[in-house]
Amino acid sequence: MPLNRRETLGLLAGSVTLMATRPVRATQESTPVIETPLPPFANLLELETLASKVIPKPAFDYIARGAGDEQTLRENRDAFSRVFIDQRVLTGKTVQALDTLILGSLLKSPLVVATMAAHGLVHTTAESGSARGAAAYGTLLEVSAVSTQNLEQIAAASNGDKWFQCYLTRDVGFNRELLQRAQAAGYTAIVLTADVTVGGNREQDRRNALCLPIPGNFLDRTGRPRAINRVFENRLGPDSLDFVRQHSGGLPLVLKGVTTAADARLALRHGVDAIQVSNHGGRQLDGSPAAFDSLLRVAAEVQGQVPIIFDSGIRRGLDVFKALAAGADAVAIGRPVLYGLSLGGWQGVHAVLEHLESELRTVMQLAGAATLADIRATPLLNPDGSPLQQGIRS
Ligand code: FNR
Ligand code: LAC
Repeated sequence: MPLNRRETLGLLAGSVTLMATRPVRATQESTPVIETPLPPFANLLELETLASKVIPKPAFDYIARGAGDEQTLRENRDAFSRVFIDQRVLTGKTVQALDTLILGSLLKSPLVVATMAAHGLVHTTAESGSARGAAAYGTLLEVSAVSTQNLEQIAAASNGDKWFQCYLTRDVGFNRELLQRAQAAGYTAIVLTADVTVGGNREQDRRNALCLPIPGNFLDRTGRPRAINRVFENRLGPDSLDFVRQHSGGLPLVLKGVTTAADARLALRHGVDAIQVSNHGGRQLDGSPAAFDSLLRVAAEVQGQVPIIFDSGIRRGLDVFKALAAGADAVAIGRPVLYGLSLGGWQGVHAVLEHLESELRTVMQLAGAATLADIRATPLLNPDGSPLQQGIRS
């Protein structure tokens, strides 16, 4: 990718010019030096602070904050720090390729980009920028039904694979239309988000009187809003899965927002092709358990019958390692991708993914895991050193 160039970004409230490219400093011999168009950052938590300086406050709060007291938002991070790795140092192994095959997509690593609304809030290239960044890295993008750009524009923005994420609205005809449009535009899977039958209690958005732009998919060719009932369908059940399957022309179906073994069981019985364990990044049900804890329970139920994608709280390669060891086949990255986009356009997205992979590789090397299969075979430990069993927490 073209490096060492200045990039001018248009943001919601004006534009900023970034500093010239600076390499991210490597701290260990095994960590490759990554050159990025981003200001220097040591980890993705710091990137949030940098992004808060360029994203207008109401948009930043919409992205970064969670629902209610933000208990779930905090737990998503804290859960990772309650779990440890059974480190092996005499395996004689070095880290290999991380190629991941999921629902027919061959990816460079098990990192994918989580579906998020309104990328245009942080960068003028919006979802097209994210699509290009994801493809440049070598992974797929989950595209939200409530994207800034319409799904056809995003499909055309890169050659990378994309999954279309839908909500069910009360407008059945429109639900059907979107699924058919996604299929026609070349999306390779449908993600049905099940944890948004009503908007979460986002208090900061109310304080900020946040007003999101109308999503591209709800506009007509001239850019005017179409007459569509956009209210979320608040009755979702197994028949909703059947509906989506019926209107998406045989595309694989991913159910997103699963946090319990009971829902996973039901989803499997209704033939889902993958499960995305997620609590929506703590943005929906405040009080939902840490997503990592949910992953342990869901993985114990699924027993490898379908792939599991995990999201909510991943900020470090170490978190990725733990999620894969706990039973995920891939992890989806949310907020950090928008921060990368805000600071560096498509190159920023690319850099975020590269950074996470680089951290993951360091963790793998130090833990004695050369492959993704080795990660899966690595025991996780409770703080007292006892083995962490799936579905059981000390
Ligand atoms: C989201 N998320 C989301 N999920 C979904 O199914 N459809 C959507 O349109 C959105 N929109 C959205 C917007 C923003 C700004 C964020 C931050 C998140 C949830 C997303 O897919 C994912 O579950 C979380 O972001 C994962 O948590 P982390 O990685 O952000 O902690
Ligand atoms: C959100 C919705 C769009 O999390 O899912 O903001």
